[in-house]
Amino acid sequence: MENNEALKAMVKEKYTLIANQSKTENETSCCGVGGCATVDYAVFAENYQDVQGYNADADLGLGCGLPTEFAQINLGDTVLDLGSGAGNDCFVARAITGESGKVIGVDMTETMIEKSRVNAEKLGFNNVEFRLGDIERLPITANTIDVIISNCVLNLVPDKAKAFAEMYRVLKPSAHFSISDVVLQGTLPEGLRNDAEMYAGCVSGAISQTDYLKLLSQAGFVNVQVQKSRKISLPTEILSRYLDKEGLDSYAQNDSLGIYSITVYGQKPATQTCAPDSGCC
Ligand SMILES: C[S@@+](CC[C@H](N)C(=O)[O-])C[C@H]1O[C@@H](n2cnc3c(N)ncnc32)[C@H](O)[C@@H]1O
Repeated sequence: MENNEALKAMVKEKYTLIANQSKTENETSCCGVGGCATVDYAVFAENYQDVQGYNADADLGLGCGLPTEFAQINLGDTVLDLGSGAGNDCFVARAITGESGKVIGVDMTETMIEKSRVNAEKLGFNNVEFRLGDIERLPITANTIDVIISNCVLNLVPDKAKAFAEMYRVLKPSAHFSISDVVLQGTLPEGLRNDAEMYAGCVSGAISQTDYLKLLSQAGFVNVQVQKSRKISLPTEILSRYLDKEGLDSYAQNDSLGIYSITVYGQKPATQTCAPDSGCC
Protein backbone atom coordinates (compact mmCIF):
# COMPACT_ATOMS: atom_id res chain seq x y z
CA MET A 1 0.00 0.00 0.00
CA GLU A 2 2.77 2.42 1.00
CA ASN A 3 4.60 1.27 -2.10
CA ASN A 4 1.54 2.11 -4.23
CA GLU A 5 1.43 5.63 -2.82
CA ALA A 6 5.16 6.03 -3.56
CA LEU A 7 4.58 4.87 -7.14
CA LYS A 8 1.75 7.36 -7.59
CA ALA A 9 3.92 10.15 -6.20
CA MET A 10 6.58 9.29 -8.83
CA VAL A 11 3.98 9.25 -11.61
CA LYS A 12 2.66 12.62 -10.46
CA GLU A 13 6.15 14.09 -10.37
CA LYS A 14 6.81 12.92 -13.95
CA TYR A 15 3.52 14.27 -15.26
CA THR A 16 4.08 17.61 -13.57
CA LEU A 17 7.26 17.93 -15.63
CA ILE A 18 5.53 16.68 -18.77
CA ALA A 19 2.61 19.11 -18.36
CA ASN A 20 5.09 21.94 -18.64
CA GLN A 21 6.62 20.64 -21.87
CA SER A 22 5.41 20.94 -25.46
CA LYS A 23 4.09 17.99 -27.46
CA THR A 24 7.34 17.88 -29.44
CA GLU A 25 9.40 17.76 -26.26
CA ASN A 26 7.16 15.01 -24.86
CA GLU A 27 7.61 12.89 -27.97
CA THR A 28 11.26 12.50 -27.05
CA SER A 29 10.78 12.49 -23.31
CA CYS A 30 9.74 9.99 -20.65
CA CYS A 31 6.34 9.15 -19.28
CA GLY A 32 6.67 6.14 -17.03
CA VAL A 33 8.09 5.72 -13.59
CA GLY A 34 11.02 3.69 -14.85
CA GLY A 35 13.36 6.56 -15.61
CA CYS A 36 14.43 8.53 -18.64
CA ALA A 37 16.30 7.20 -21.59
CA THR A 38 15.78 7.94 -25.26
CA VAL A 39 12.08 7.36 -24.96
CA ASP A 40 9.99 7.65 -28.08
CA TYR A 41 6.43 8.27 -26.92
CA ALA A 42 5.31 8.90 -30.49
CA VAL A 43 5.27 5.13 -31.12
CA PHE A 44 1.99 5.00 -29.18
CA ALA A 45 0.09 8.08 -30.26
CA GLU A 46 -2.80 8.15 -32.74
CA ASN A 47 -3.23 10.99 -35.21
CA TYR A 48 -5.97 13.32 -33.93
CA GLN A 49 -5.62 16.04 -36.59
CA ASP A 50 -8.91 15.21 -38.36
CA VAL A 51 -10.91 14.26 -35.27
CA GLN A 52 -13.87 16.54 -34.55
CA GLY A 53 -13.35 18.63 -31.41
CA TYR A 54 -9.55 18.23 -31.53
CA ASN A 55 -7.71 21.04 -29.83
CA ALA A 56 -3.95 21.14 -30.35
CA ASP A 57 -3.30 22.96 -27.03
CA ALA A 58 -4.81 20.02 -25.15
CA ASP A 59 -2.76 17.40 -27.01
CA LEU A 60 0.53 16.73 -25.22
CA GLY A 61 1.11 13.61 -27.31
CA LEU A 62 0.52 11.29 -24.34
CA GLY A 63 -2.22 8.97 -25.58
CA CYS A 64 -1.91 5.47 -27.01
CA GLY A 65 -5.31 5.18 -28.70
CA LEU A 66 -8.45 7.07 -29.65
CA PRO A 67 -10.99 5.93 -27.03
CA THR A 68 -13.83 8.11 -28.37
CA GLU A 69 -13.67 6.17 -31.68
CA PHE A 70 -15.63 3.20 -30.32
CA ALA A 71 -17.18 4.78 -27.20
CA GLN A 72 -20.69 5.17 -28.66
CA ILE A 73 -21.16 8.55 -27.00
CA ASN A 74 -24.54 10.18 -27.63
CA LEU A 75 -25.76 13.75 -27.62
CA GLY A 76 -26.55 14.77 -24.02
CA ASP A 77 -24.41 12.05 -22.39
CA THR A 78 -22.38 12.53 -19.23
CA VAL A 79 -18.86 11.33 -20.06
CA LEU A 80 -16.00 10.73 -17.62
CA ASP A 81 -12.36 10.75 -18.80
CA LEU A 82 -9.94 9.02 -16.42
CA GLY A 83 -6.49 10.65 -16.33
CA SER A 84 -7.60 13.52 -18.55
CA GLY A 85 -4.18 15.22 -18.88
CA ALA A 86 -4.54 18.58 -20.64
CA GLY A 87 -8.09 17.64 -21.73
CA ASN A 88 -7.47 16.17 -25.20
CA ASP A 89 -10.15 13.43 -25.19
CA CYS A 90 -12.58 15.54 -23.10
CA PHE A 91 -12.82 18.13 -25.87
CA VAL A 92 -13.29 15.41 -28.50
CA ALA A 93 -16.07 13.91 -26.32
CA ARG A 94 -17.63 17.39 -25.90
CA ALA A 95 -17.96 17.64 -29.68
CA ILE A 96 -20.26 14.58 -29.49
CA THR A 97 -22.21 15.26 -26.28
CA GLY A 98 -22.89 18.85 -27.38
CA GLU A 99 -24.11 21.57 -25.06
CA SER A 100 -26.77 19.38 -23.47
CA GLY A 101 -24.21 16.86 -22.21
CA LYS A 102 -21.44 17.05 -19.66
CA VAL A 103 -17.82 15.96 -19.72
CA ILE A 104 -15.78 15.45 -16.54
CA GLY A 105 -12.03 14.88 -16.59
CA VAL A 106 -10.27 13.54 -13.51
CA ASP A 107 -6.51 13.74 -13.06
CA MET A 108 -4.30 13.59 -9.96
CA THR A 109 -1.64 15.98 -11.28
CA GLU A 110 -2.40 19.61 -10.32
CA THR A 111 -0.48 21.08 -13.27
CA MET A 112 -2.49 18.93 -15.73
CA ILE A 113 -5.74 20.07 -14.13
CA GLU A 114 -4.67 23.73 -14.33
CA LYS A 115 -3.72 23.29 -17.99
CA SER A 116 -6.99 21.57 -18.88
CA ARG A 117 -9.05 24.27 -17.11
CA VAL A 118 -7.24 27.00 -19.07
CA ASN A 119 -7.99 25.10 -22.29
CA ALA A 120 -11.71 24.73 -21.40
CA GLU A 121 -11.92 28.42 -20.61
CA LYS A 122 -10.27 29.36 -23.91
CA LEU A 123 -12.83 27.21 -25.73
CA GLY A 124 -15.67 28.81 -23.77
CA PHE A 125 -17.10 25.47 -22.57
CA ASN A 126 -19.10 25.56 -19.37
CA ASN A 127 -20.04 21.88 -19.46
CA VAL A 128 -16.49 20.49 -19.43
CA GLU A 129 -15.25 20.21 -15.86
CA PHE A 130 -11.87 19.07 -14.56
CA ARG A 131 -11.59 17.58 -11.07
CA LEU A 132 -8.40 16.86 -9.17
CA GLY A 133 -8.52 13.31 -7.89
CA ASP A 134 -7.22 9.76 -7.85
CA ILE A 135 -8.78 7.11 -10.08
CA GLU A 136 -8.59 4.70 -7.14
CA ARG A 137 -10.96 7.05 -5.22
CA LEU A 138 -12.96 8.88 -7.87
CA PRO A 139 -14.48 12.24 -6.88
CA ILE A 140 -17.69 11.21 -8.66
CA THR A 141 -21.13 10.23 -7.33
CA ALA A 142 -22.21 6.59 -7.85
CA ASN A 143 -24.45 5.70 -10.84
CA THR A 144 -24.13 9.05 -12.62
CA ILE A 145 -21.97 8.40 -15.72
CA ASP A 146 -23.14 7.26 -19.19
CA VAL A 147 -19.72 6.57 -20.74
CA ILE A 148 -16.19 6.29 -19.32
CA ILE A 149 -13.21 6.88 -21.58
CA SER A 150 -9.49 6.87 -20.77
CA ASN A 151 -6.31 7.09 -22.81
CA CYS A 152 -3.07 5.42 -21.75
CA VAL A 153 -3.61 5.91 -18.02
CA LEU A 154 -4.71 2.74 -16.23
CA ASN A 155 -1.35 1.05 -16.86
CA LEU A 156 0.06 3.70 -14.50
CA VAL A 157 -2.42 2.97 -11.69
CA PRO A 158 -0.91 0.54 -9.17
CA ASP A 159 -4.18 -0.97 -7.88
CA LYS A 160 -6.06 -1.75 -11.09
CA ALA A 161 -8.74 -3.80 -9.29
CA LYS A 162 -9.59 -0.74 -7.19
CA ALA A 163 -9.67 1.50 -10.28
CA PHE A 164 -12.00 -0.92 -12.11
CA ALA A 165 -14.25 -1.15 -9.01
CA GLU A 166 -14.48 2.66 -9.01
CA MET A 167 -15.40 2.65 -12.71
CA TYR A 168 -18.16 0.16 -11.91
CA ARG A 169 -19.43 2.27 -9.01
CA VAL A 170 -19.79 5.52 -10.97
CA LEU A 171 -21.35 4.13 -14.17
CA LYS A 172 -25.15 4.07 -14.41
CA PRO A 173 -26.70 0.59 -14.76
CA SER A 174 -26.30 -0.58 -18.43
CA ALA A 175 -23.72 2.16 -19.09
CA HIS A 176 -20.33 1.31 -20.56
CA PHE A 177 -16.66 2.23 -20.90
CA SER A 178 -14.24 2.28 -23.84
CA ILE A 179 -10.66 2.71 -22.71
CA SER A 180 -7.33 2.68 -24.54
CA ASP A 181 -4.31 1.33 -22.71
CA VAL A 182 -1.02 -0.50 -23.03
CA VAL A 183 -0.86 -4.23 -22.26
CA LEU A 184 1.63 -7.04 -22.72
CA GLN A 185 1.13 -10.28 -24.64
CA GLY A 186 3.18 -13.37 -23.94
CA THR A 187 6.37 -13.39 -21.89
CA LEU A 188 8.97 -10.95 -23.13
CA PRO A 189 12.55 -11.87 -22.21
CA GLU A 190 13.34 -9.97 -18.95
CA GLY A 191 16.07 -7.80 -20.47
CA LEU A 192 13.92 -6.98 -23.48
CA ARG A 193 11.02 -5.96 -21.24
CA ASN A 194 13.27 -3.60 -19.29
CA ASP A 195 14.71 -2.06 -22.45
CA ALA A 196 11.25 -1.77 -23.98
CA GLU A 197 10.16 0.12 -20.87
CA MET A 198 13.06 2.50 -21.26
CA TYR A 199 12.27 2.95 -24.94
CA ALA A 200 8.54 3.45 -24.51
CA GLY A 201 8.39 4.97 -21.03
CA CYS A 202 4.74 4.25 -20.24
CA VAL A 203 5.09 0.48 -20.33
CA SER A 204 6.02 0.50 -16.63
CA GLY A 205 3.01 -0.84 -14.77
CA ALA A 206 1.46 -2.49 -17.82
CA ILE A 207 0.08 -5.98 -17.17
CA SER A 208 -0.81 -8.85 -19.48
CA GLN A 209 -3.91 -8.50 -21.64
CA THR A 210 -5.31 -11.70 -20.13
CA ASP A 211 -5.00 -10.36 -16.57
CA TYR A 212 -6.38 -6.96 -17.63
CA LEU A 213 -9.55 -8.47 -19.12
CA LYS A 214 -9.91 -10.87 -16.18
CA LEU A 215 -9.73 -8.00 -13.66
CA LEU A 216 -12.44 -6.13 -15.60
CA SER A 217 -14.75 -9.17 -15.49
CA GLN A 218 -13.97 -9.67 -11.80
CA ALA A 219 -15.04 -6.06 -11.18
CA GLY A 220 -18.49 -7.06 -12.45
CA PHE A 221 -18.38 -5.81 -16.06
CA VAL A 222 -20.07 -7.84 -18.80
CA ASN A 223 -19.53 -7.98 -22.59
CA VAL A 224 -15.84 -7.20 -22.02
CA GLN A 225 -14.16 -7.15 -25.43
CA VAL A 226 -11.11 -5.74 -27.22
CA GLN A 227 -12.35 -3.27 -29.85
CA LYS A 228 -8.96 -2.48 -31.36
CA SER A 229 -5.46 -3.87 -30.94
CA ARG A 230 -2.19 -2.56 -32.37
CA LYS A 231 1.26 -4.04 -31.84
CA ILE A 232 3.81 -1.42 -30.85
CA SER A 233 6.91 -1.81 -32.99
CA LEU A 234 10.21 -1.84 -31.21
CA PRO A 235 13.40 -1.01 -33.12
CA THR A 236 15.44 -3.97 -34.35
CA GLU A 237 18.41 -2.39 -32.58
CA ILE A 238 16.73 -3.11 -29.22
CA LEU A 239 15.20 -6.46 -30.17
CA SER A 240 18.47 -7.83 -31.52
CA ARG A 241 20.15 -7.42 -28.12
CA TYR A 242 17.94 -10.24 -26.83
CA LEU A 243 16.83 -12.24 -29.85
CA ASP A 244 18.83 -14.11 -32.49
CA LYS A 245 17.82 -14.03 -36.17
CA GLU A 246 15.23 -16.76 -35.64
CA GLY A 247 13.88 -15.01 -32.53
CA LEU A 248 13.60 -11.72 -34.42
CA ASP A 249 11.55 -13.34 -37.20
CA SER A 250 9.29 -15.07 -34.76
CA TYR A 251 8.82 -11.86 -32.71
CA ALA A 252 7.75 -9.98 -35.85
CA GLN A 253 5.33 -12.71 -36.93
CA ASN A 254 4.04 -13.82 -33.54
CA ASP A 255 0.89 -11.89 -32.73
CA SER A 256 0.77 -13.26 -29.22
CA LEU A 257 4.08 -11.72 -28.13
CA GLY A 258 4.81 -8.03 -27.63
CA ILE A 259 3.56 -4.70 -26.34
CA TYR A 260 0.09 -3.73 -27.53
CA SER A 261 -2.06 -0.65 -27.52
CA ILE A 262 -5.63 -1.86 -27.07
CA THR A 263 -9.06 -0.26 -26.77
CA VAL A 264 -11.36 -2.27 -24.50
CA TYR A 265 -15.14 -2.11 -24.04
CA GLY A 266 -17.17 -3.30 -21.08
CA GLN A 267 -20.65 -2.74 -19.71
CA LYS A 268 -22.16 -2.50 -16.26
CA PRO A 269 -25.12 -4.90 -16.02
CA ALA A 270 -28.62 -3.44 -16.14
CA THR A 271 -29.52 -4.77 -12.75
CA GLN A 272 -27.07 -3.98 -10.03
CA THR A 273 -25.20 -7.11 -9.09
CA CYS A 274 -22.36 -7.29 -6.65
CA ALA A 275 -18.94 -7.61 -8.21
CA PRO A 276 -17.81 -11.14 -7.26
CA ASP A 277 -14.90 -10.09 -5.05
CA SER A 278 -16.23 -6.74 -3.85
CA GLY A 279 -17.71 -8.00 -0.57
CA CYS A 280 -20.48 -5.44 -1.10
CA CYS A 281 -23.38 -7.87 -0.19
C1 LIG B 1 -0.06 9.13 -20.32
S1 LIG B 1 -0.88 10.52 -19.61
C2 LIG B 1 -2.36 10.57 -20.57
C3 LIG B 1 -3.07 11.88 -20.50
C4 LIG B 1 -4.31 11.98 -21.38
N1 LIG B 1 -5.20 10.88 -21.18
C5 LIG B 1 -3.91 12.10 -22.83
O1 LIG B 1 -4.15 11.15 -23.59
O2 LIG B 1 -3.37 13.14 -23.21
C6 LIG B 1 -1.41 9.90 -18.03
C7 LIG B 1 -2.23 10.87 -17.17
O3 LIG B 1 -2.84 10.11 -16.13
C8 LIG B 1 -2.72 10.79 -14.90
N2 LIG B 1 -2.75 9.77 -13.83
C9 LIG B 1 -1.90 8.73 -13.64
N3 LIG B 1 -2.28 8.00 -12.59
C10 LIG B 1 -3.41 8.57 -12.09
C11 LIG B 1 -4.28 8.28 -11.00
N4 LIG B 1 -4.04 7.25 -10.16
N5 LIG B 1 -5.34 9.07 -10.77
C12 LIG B 1 -5.59 10.15 -11.59
N6 LIG B 1 -4.80 10.48 -12.63
C13 LIG B 1 -3.72 9.71 -12.90
C14 LIG B 1 -1.40 11.55 -15.01
O4 LIG B 1 -1.37 12.64 -14.13
C15 LIG B 1 -1.41 11.95 -16.49
O5 LIG B 1 -2.01 13.21 -16.69
